[in-house]
Amino acid sequence: MPQISLLVLAASIGLINAMSTLSHLNDHCSDSCTQASASTWVSAEVAHACELSVPYSKTRSLAIVDSAIKFLPYYSLETWFLHSPNPLIPHAVDVRSLLRGVQQKASTSNFSSDWDFNIAVTDAFNREHDGHTVFLAACTEAFSWNLPFSISTLAETPYDRTAFPTFVVNYDFPNQNRLGLEAHFESIGVHVRPYDGARILSIDGVEAGKYLTDLAAASSIYDGLVGGFESLNPLYVRLMSRYSADTECGLYTQEVGHFSQRSFYPGAESVTVRLQTAYGVQVLSVPWAATFIAKGNTTASFFAQTCALSADEAASRRETHRSDISARKGVTAPDSQRAVRSAASSTRQDTPKTNYVQPNLTSFGHFITLDIYQLAEHPKVGVVYFEQFEPSTSFNLNTYFRGISETLFTGLTALKKAGVEHVLIDISGNRGGYINAGAIALWSLWPNDLYPGFPAVYRVNDLIRREAAVAAVTNDADSEYFYGNYMTQNYTPLTSNEQFMDPPVAQTVNGVADAYSHPFFDNFGNSSKALTSFTAPPFTGKDYILVSNSMCASTCSVFSSYLFQKHGVRSAVFGGTPNVTVSQFDGGVKGSEVTTFERIILELELAGLQNDTAAPQAFPVSLLFSLNFRNALPYINEQDGILEYVWEQGTKKYQFTHEQYNKPQKIWEFVAEEFFGNN
Ligand SMILES: *[C@@H]1O[C@H](CO)[C@@H](O)[C@H](O)[C@H]1NC(C)=O
Ligand SMILES: *[C@@H]1O[C@H](CO)[C@@H](O)[C@H](O)[C@H]1NC(C)=O
Ligand SMILES: *[C@@H]1O[C@H](CO)[C@@H](O)[C@H](O)[C@H]1NC(C)=O
Ligand SMILES: *[C@@H]1O[C@H](CO)[C@@H](O)[C@H](O)[C@H]1NC(C)=O
Ligand SMILES: *[C@@H]1O[C@H](CO)[C@@H](O)[C@H](O)[C@H]1NC(C)=O
Ligand SMILES: *[C@@H]1O[C@H](CO)[C@@H](O)[C@H](O)[C@H]1NC(C)=O
Repeated sequence: MPQISLLVLAASIGLINAMSTLSHLNDHCSDSCTQASASTWVSAEVAHACELSVPYSKTRSLAIVDSAIKFLPYYSLETWFLHSPNPLIPHAVDVRSLLRGVQQKASTSNFSSDWDFNIAVTDAFNREHDGHTVFLAACTEAFSWNLPFSISTLAETPYDRTAFPTFVVNYDFPNQNRLGLEAHFESIGVHVRPYDGARILSIDGVEAGKYLTDLAAASSIYDGLVGGFESLNPLYVRLMSRYSADTECGLYTQEVGHFSQRSFYPGAESVTVRLQTAYGVQVLSVPWAATFIAKGNTTASFFAQTCALSADEAASRRETHRSDISARKGVTAPDSQRAVRSAASSTRQDTPKTNYVQPNLTSFGHFITLDIYQLAEHPKVGVVYFEQFEPSTSFNLNTYFRGISETLFTGLTALKKAGVEHVLIDISGNRGGYINAGAIALWSLWPNDLYPGFPAVYRVNDLIRREAAVAAVTNDADSEYFYGNYMTQNYTPLTSNEQFMDPPVAQTVNGVADAYSHPFFDNFGNSSKALTSFTAPPFTGKDYILVSNSMCASTCSVFSSYLFQKHGVRSAVFGGTPNVTVSQFDGGVKGSEVTTFERIILELELAGLQNDTAAPQAFPVSLLFSLNFRNALPYINEQDGILEYVWEQGTKKYQFTHEQYNKPQKIWEFVAEEFFGNN
């Protein structure tokens, strides 16, 4: 044990010496962003010094927080999240007061850097744990922060009540492409490979299960974590390494997990773990390594090229939000930044043959985010893996929608011909995507249902009511506030704004007077003919089993909730906190649509209301800000109010084991055996 710690210590001293030598050599190098961007991997200390070197600006910060507050009326969950009606899905956040606090502090210039200000705004929204509603300033996400090991919570058998956090060296994870990471850690004397598979006893002095559960529950941005899921289990699973196919080209991978890869400063320079190894208890201190993924090579150029918003970029962002209404989404943010994800999938490190996560099964169809197989050991059982409901690469929308529909039709039809009688629908880690893609999937499985989805409502205030009034007068189908885009709950097209939101429905939510539109459906027409070739359901509800790791949000949740609430589909939920016995199959935000601030500004422009005193203005810096835009209404447990608060418990709960946590094929064969045996 002492041996390792000494080596790490010696290495850090070496690094510090090297840095001070460099800064004496060259004046440029005294700029912390120059140091942080000069090599591929640097220490957390060096990287964070760059972030902190951008000075605080009162004028800019006040403009940002003023607009953030003016966007709140578009946030349909604001008053709901003051207090959750369901203790299983807790929320008690007053985001408006938190933002007013930031505004107060900003007005007294009481932030020590631009980073401190941005993180305070991010923190206010992050406390909602609403994966749809996030505020991410580009210059706070300029680095990817990495550890050389991941954690998986594993049990001896899937039925065990307890599971143990396990140390998993992540250098060889397929399709993660973190070039030079191992060489970096080796060069600073951190050798982790010998500890692969060891049980983690404690982390930073706290019992490992408790440490991880607390970290998941808080999901604090000050620990570098964005809380994209609502109940404890998916927040915990998100820290873990787990299988997925969430790369740009749908390759299978083993996720590093949020414990070991963060897009924000992790709040500490290193992590200390106590491990149970074959040779006794060992203590390992592992520093974070950061890699710069933004633009600029000095503090000034970093600010100009990454933090600030150039006129060109502003214009191009606005254009992308002009896209048609079929591009509406329900999706939560991915684990890592776009640059990290593209790097991971632009280089194919692995052929399917050497990728140990990739299933080795006969394919009955593959289309970007969708894979269909027949199981080998249970040939009467097929698998449909819905990895996401949107491609990560830019793709023509109609081509994507058609591809999903056709692949489902040909794949499921061929599976039936091959003798398949039951189908596992894997939704593990599905963050959501296009509302239309979810609707196409639902209508493919249930082509005779009148409408595939849940009724929804918009939040309404005076400004929004005026936006809808203009859309009504101009018949503006490009506006989300145009009644003509929707149907009544009786499946007839809305014919007037009175049926939509003029006047709105007054509601008191958590003691606060609020207002919403009348419930409506998206208008996909009242026949599935245009969207799918199926004319009868290919299987019945009892033939399907949802397979989930409890991370399923937004459009994924709308899809899986519908299967559960309307057709009684059962589920198998894997993984999670060491002692958990129940969890939802969908543990993410269940609001029916997310939107961006650019889209809200575009809506105001469509109505000519962009100069209204209540209208929020575009932010003066580069950032991603999205909001939950509509609430979905459930078919069951209506007393919970909105779909968000309906607890959808999985039918069976299992732990991941050492043998199957990184092999989806083994998970599927196991579920097939559990639910269908040899039938
Ligand atoms: C600045 O912040 C500190 C700590 O949050 C607080 O104690 C102090 O009163 C603040 N100063 C002003 C001028 O608001
Ligand atoms: C599970 O463990 C966590 C942390 O150790 C604890 O907070 C929680 O109450 C436990 N839950 C149950 C059901 O025992
Ligand atoms: C930063 O990059 C610019 C453009 O490539 C280059 O001219 C400049 O010398 C670099 N500055 C430093 C400090 O490396
Ligand atoms: C894939 O499965 C086939 C048929 O069961 C088998 O012959 C082959 O060895 C397997 N390939 C790998 C890489 O496991
Ligand atoms: C289906 O839609 C058509 C065209 O909008 C309409 O004429 C018809 O009445 C609708 N049928 C039902 C059952 O709502
Ligand atoms: C909004 O204000 C800008 C700048 O003052 C002006 O050019 C524009 O015409 C105004 N637009 C509307 C719709 O009032």
